[in-house]
Amino acid sequence: MTAERDEVALADMLRLQRESWSSAAPGWDQWFASFEAFAGPLSLELARLSAIETGDSVLDVGCGNGEPSLTVARMVGVAGHVLGIDLAEPMVEFARQHAARAGVGQAEFLARDATDLSGLGPFDAAVSRFAIMLVPEPVAVARAVRSVLRPGARFAACVWGEGSEVPFCALAPSVVQRAFGLEPAAPDAPGPMRLGRPGALSEVLRAGGFSDVTEHAVRVEPRFASAAEGARFYTEGSGCARRALEGRTAQERERFVAEFERALAAHRTADGSIALPSTVRIARGTAS
Ligand SMILES: C[S@@+](CC[C@H](N)C(=O)[O-])C[C@H]1O[C@@H](n2cnc3c(N)ncnc32)[C@H](O)[C@@H]1O
Repeated sequence: MTAERDEVALADMLRLQRESWSSAAPGWDQWFASFEAFAGPLSLELARLSAIETGDSVLDVGCGNGEPSLTVARMVGVAGHVLGIDLAEPMVEFARQHAARAGVGQAEFLARDATDLSGLGPFDAAVSRFAIMLVPEPVAVARAVRSVLRPGARFAACVWGEGSEVPFCALAPSVVQRAFGLEPAAPDAPGPMRLGRPGALSEVLRAGGFSDVTEHAVRVEPRFASAAEGARFYTEGSGCARRALEGRTAQERERFVAEFERALAAHRTADGSIALPSTVRIARGTAS
């Protein structure tokens, strides 16, 4: 009975995650260039850590609207192949559009749950940027990835750090709480900072059967030209802020946006732009 209840809870979480990212996709994609301005180097770092070479066949787990798939596809060249998988079909569709516009024919995209990769592969390497922590059972993702990798192949993944070191992610929930009095999510619930503790991502990879696991942290600096631009990013692209705004009156929305702008203004730099320097944890392991 408990196992059945757990199955239902898992299926519900997966459904919510799929619905949330499917409806967020158009808003998220509008901010592709801003996001890549700070996250682009992470795609290169994941490719380096997973030892990708020309001609490789690579899996990207939770590829969203196309990264790191597109970066990796350019590295493996036309002799190689990249498969980006994501739970949300609209995200996958945006990824296909980016690949087509960039003329990157060696990248393919598929709507798929990261915990079930049966029938795919084998791959020479795998990467994942900002996705594993959103899956109800991150270890199931690591296990699934390992099962489709060739022996000796590497998996490199990154997640956001913990609350106090990640204002980029912590800002939206704190504004939502202040504006609407909503309770914060449980720390172990699927969410951006859930694997932020040093060592948490490594533990997931080890539990999934990877060996030779290493982890380090890097800082990235998301930036907005103004507080108003930042507030637009969060209200259009952040799942947390968008959900909190559903069904609100125009007046409530205005108050919320003003609250966001105030919170962002606290991060104004000397040149007037808003900077939210944040920590990212990156781990890699080898499939045996
Ligand atoms: C924050 S976005 C990151 C997308 C992209 N990798 C990037 O860095 O821009 C997280 C993505 O993970 C996907 N995701 C969440 N749960 C998933 C699951 N169980 N299987 C596959 N993808 C999942 C979401 O649909 C979303 O597109």
